[in-house]
Amino acid sequence: MCCWSITASMANSNDMPLYKDPHASVELRVADLLKRMTLKEKIGQMIQIERSIANSSNIQEYFFGSILSGGGSVPAENASPTDWMDMVDGFQKAALGTRLGIPLIYGIDAVHGHNNVYGATIFPHNVGLGCTRDPDLVKRIGAATALEVRGTGIPYVFAPCIAVCRHPSWGRCYESYGEDPDLVRKMTEVIPGLQGEPSGLGIPSVASQLNVAATAKHFVGDGGTVNGIDENNTVSSYKRLVSTHMVGYFDAIAKGVSTIMVSYSSWKGKRMHSNRILISHVLKKQLQFKGFVISDWEGLDRITTPWGVNYTNSVQLGVNAGLDMIMVPFNYTTFQESMFSLLESKSILMKRVNDAVRRILRVKFTMGLFEYPYADRSLASMVGAQAHRDLAREAVRKSLVLLKNGKSSHSPLLPLDKKASKILVAGSHANDIGNQCGGWTITWQGNSGNITKGTTILEAISSTVSKETKIVFEAAPNANFAKDKGFAYAVVVVGEIPYAEYVGDNLNLTIPEGGIETIQNVCSSVQCVVVLISGRPLVVEPYLSMMDALVAAWLPGTEGNGVSDVLFGDYPFQGKLSRTWFRRADQLPMNVGDKKYDPLFPYGFGLSYSY
Ligand code: GLC
Repeated sequence: MCCWSITASMANSNDMPLYKDPHASVELRVADLLKRMTLKEKIGQMIQIERSIANSSNIQEYFFGSILSGGGSVPAENASPTDWMDMVDGFQKAALGTRLGIPLIYGIDAVHGHNNVYGATIFPHNVGLGCTRDPDLVKRIGAATALEVRGTGIPYVFAPCIAVCRHPSWGRCYESYGEDPDLVRKMTEVIPGLQGEPSGLGIPSVASQLNVAATAKHFVGDGGTVNGIDENNTVSSYKRLVSTHMVGYFDAIAKGVSTIMVSYSSWKGKRMHSNRILISHVLKKQLQFKGFVISDWEGLDRITTPWGVNYTNSVQLGVNAGLDMIMVPFNYTTFQESMFSLLESKSILMKRVNDAVRRILRVKFTMGLFEYPYADRSLASMVGAQAHRDLAREAVRKSLVLLKNGKSSHSPLLPLDKKASKILVAGSHANDIGNQCGGWTITWQGNSGNITKGTTILEAISSTVSKETKIVFEAAPNANFAKDKGFAYAVVVVGEIPYAEYVGDNLNLTIPEGGIETIQNVCSSVQCVVVLISGRPLVVEPYLSMMDALVAAWLPGTEGNGVSDVLFGDYPFQGKLSRTWFRRADQLPMNVGDKKYDPLFPYGFGLSYSY
């Protein structure tokens, strides 16, 4: 078997335990350490707990392999990079103080920048990045994100999500680069951005201490569930499962992704977390994935309905299916007890545990965690660095899709006049950084309001127009607000408020939060461009005729300047839809290539300036 061969001549000559020898091969180090470990230490390596319950004593008693921040789990409100580094290093110190001194790996969701962290650069969510059709851009975003994550002392992220969302009712559709598997495959370039250039054919690799271990998620079919219901059931042939939802993993593995997270969803009624054929046979044997497979949050508990019943049986199903690390995240004693009893009864065999631990250690050795277990404090300034904000601004520009410009071809409204005497900026999303960022920002669900550092669209417009231009801002204008007030034009910014996962499941997909009334109240009185902030296409056809222009801005993140750059013509529109824009929700699911295909705007649509 190429690349993993072990020869006696490579054995370590001095008295330092071989696994501590950075010059020894990874496989030799893994083998040496594995044989030194007790069963309790091996089971500990398979456990990932939540930071809120972690402390030196349970780390040293249970030998946890990993600790995570769940969505929004932070050392303190608005914690600084140093606060983060102190927390992570504190946990690491405890781990290194155990008998074998195996470092733990701290993981966090960094799905559109380092999104848990106050002051971090928040990039557009994947649905917008898919509209850029720019793999190099997402690779650069990956590299910048890795630097910001390392700037808090963290070496591991649960990103990218390479779901292929096939139904926009899914509350996680914005985490998907698009409905076309080939587009999603191209966007796996974010992995060498996060991890650095891969070292070889599918070998998990993290090129330097400026990179992080990445996670391709959620294996497999998370974006294909019936009616887009989160964590539900994907019903398709195996051929379709592979061709639509699995092909992205071919690329992720070839690019050396370190870990793969399993989906909560089911395939043909069988929970992915218990699917031994797809995890052990397909992913590990056929696709030769050599990193470790991690469960989702309480993924074992959710094998059953209701969650958590017959937990020991779920542990048996999940571990035997091929799960290596278990995102427990709280009931670690129950998990450990279950493992002891299942091994005792030979319901789980020791070779399965050894395979799991071998994979976990392989990733830790490969990424240099034994040599560099602590934060590099010189990187703290990477969090929210201006160069990253400039990159995010570029990404916003390239993600915008122009859907309409002008009520008739001779009178395009965009680009807007910077020298207009008086303009109206209206809408619930015009001056709201939280709405701009969407879910998975500072907290799990995200929030409206001034939740982190950044530039709102209103602030961006204000810094773009001439000093003589009078700007009037009104979040919720009534029917008379814009009437006969001498506005040259209005920018109406409305859309969805932040949500994440099942909270965002939505079957009617209309513009919420009073957005329709704002459009009607403003656009009936003054020529208007509507900028839609949303995680997916929404029903706009009934209101399209009243708009002079319509721009899909998706969930752009902290750099609102990217929107004004293009609205005022400093940069062209170049975004192309990563998703089919339906007329009505009852048409769904409707994806490019379907026989019955009658969209308002087709997949790949996007206007540009005709100058
Ligand atoms: C969540 C998500 C997963 C995330 C994990 C840790 O429930 O399904 O994408 O990485 O928990 O926050």
